[in-house]
Amino acid sequence: FPRSRTVSQRTLVLLKPDAVKRGLAGEIISRIERKAGWRLTAVELRTFDRATLEHHYEEHVGRPFYEPLLEFMTSGPSIALIVEGENVVPGLRALCGATDPLQAGPGTIRGDFATITRENLIHASDSEASAEREIKIFFPSHA
Ligand code: TYD
Ligand code: MG
Repeated sequence: FPRSRTVSQRTLVLLKPDAVKRGLAGEIISRIERKAGWRLTAVELRTFDRATLEHHYEEHVGRPFYEPLLEFMTSGPSIALIVEGENVVPGLRALCGATDPLQAGPGTIRGDFATITRENLIHASDSEASAEREIKIFFPSHA
């Protein structure tokens, strides 16, 4: 039975440096845009500095992948977006697929286009609380 209650949310998406470098930004944004009821409300292309990404990834400090992750994330321009709409927080996580692209199903962004965990093309907030925290980091004027 279809859900009838509309749950409007917003989420923070990053198209990581590999997505921009490989020319996949248009494809990925197109997949997001085509979802009924979702819309982009902020977009910025920029090479984010280390301090910004330390804040964004603070939950991962000390993990073995943390330093290489920051190195990768500062290696070139990313695109940050705010996406708003119906159930967009879990919806975008589903569209991304699993963190490890080899575990991500076909039809997901990571499943279709990535092979290694570090270079998995896209970030999307994992909860509404994370989305609000991350929007403050990348789009303080939208907080
Ligand atoms: P995480 O928050 O666990 O994944 P997600 O992006 O799906 O929310 O990890 C953040 C990023 O850190 C992940 O997208 C890629 C990188 N990463 C690694 O390079 N190796 C790992 O083992 C993990 C868990 C993450
Ligand atoms: Mg995460």
